[in-house]
Amino acid sequence: MTVFWRSRVGTDRGANDGMVGEVARSHTGESRNLGQMARILLTGGAGFIGSHTAVVLLERGYNVVLLDDFSNADRGVLERIQRISGIEIPVIEADIRDELALTRAFSTFPVDAVIHFAAKKAVGESEVEPLLYLDVNIVGTVRLLAAMQRVGVSRIVFSSSAAVYGEPEICPITEAAPAHPTNVYGRTKLVMEGMITDLVRTGAIQSAAVLRYFNPVGAHPSGLIGEDPRGVPANLMPYLCQVARRRHPFLRVFGDDYPTPDGSGIRDYIHVMDLAEAHEFALRRTLGHGGIVTVNLGTGTGYSVLQLVAAFEAATGKKVPYSIMPRRPGDVAECYADASLAAELLQWRATRTIEDMCRDAWRWESRAAF
Ligand code: UFG
Repeated sequence: MTVFWRSRVGTDRGANDGMVGEVARSHTGESRNLGQMARILLTGGAGFIGSHTAVVLLERGYNVVLLDDFSNADRGVLERIQRISGIEIPVIEADIRDELALTRAFSTFPVDAVIHFAAKKAVGESEVEPLLYLDVNIVGTVRLLAAMQRVGVSRIVFSSSAAVYGEPEICPITEAAPAHPTNVYGRTKLVMEGMITDLVRTGAIQSAAVLRYFNPVGAHPSGLIGEDPRGVPANLMPYLCQVARRRHPFLRVFGDDYPTPDGSGIRDYIHVMDLAEAHEFALRRTLGHGGIVTVNLGTGTGYSVLQLVAAFEAATGKKVPYSIMPRRPGDVAECYADASLAAELLQWRATRTIEDMCRDAWRWESRAAF
């Protein structure tokens, strides 16, 4: 895996700033061959969903360029993507707010489309550091879109979130449901969706797919890549896996008094490989059509916290001790997708089961040292 250059916001931006030797070779060696499959730049490509999407795209013959600042991703993932795919891909270490680095990336590697994953994504943190979220997510996306416009890249697949809906009035949630985000993170996703919609409407962007993720879990079946949260995980599946590994004595189940069959909260968990494959379907649509589509990516089925615990125990044979705690502030009783629009517009449906999600999450969690 070759890191072509490093670039950080706020550093001196001299002509050769941060470039390493491989750049010259890449300039001469990389020439555009229009007969080949499309080349796609993945911002945040070393992260949880980005790394799985990279693997799927490589398997399906796309040329992939990763861009990541590694603020929330381990560099080791690069080598493991290569191990799974057998393909060495170019990597650019840069912050999406660094427009010069983006422009350089696009001129070194002309691409047909961008999949934009890079963002701050922790709901709780977004309420503590709202300006950081506005800066990285919104300013970063403005700079990315500006760099794309400068070099004439006009197709984008955008990582959005079910967080844009806020507290749903009705489940399953359709894309027509009102968007009332209840935290800064969800608000930034909605603002970014609006920016992309405006650019498509005004013709600056030719084609876009906005993907609203529900609750991504699981890992690549090889166990080589998966979710790697820093610190104590806030999300259910990684925390549950750590309980199964005895890193925590028990799972705290936040609330058993919701108006759901067993009283615990219901969510639409989706296997990250299904999600990664959905990006390829969305990409195909974006490369072949104009306009914008906005779709939910979920399975359409909700599972409660206690159902997920039972499924995990059945799939892995591991006990997950738990204790009922008060509700977590800001949580809703249930949130699951109407997944029919993605099926209609992208011809994609999730196929993996809750058992697959638990088994693959556990394989990744219990992995031996790399
Ligand atoms: N939960 C527990 N114990 C835990 C963690 C979570 O009981 O230790 C419960 C929550 O109360 C909730 C469910 O497990 O009922 C799922 O919680 P997560 O934190 O895993 O996920 P959320 O649904 O709260 O949020 C996730 C993402 C957000 C995204 C949202 C979209 O973290 O980024 O889905 O629906 F916006």
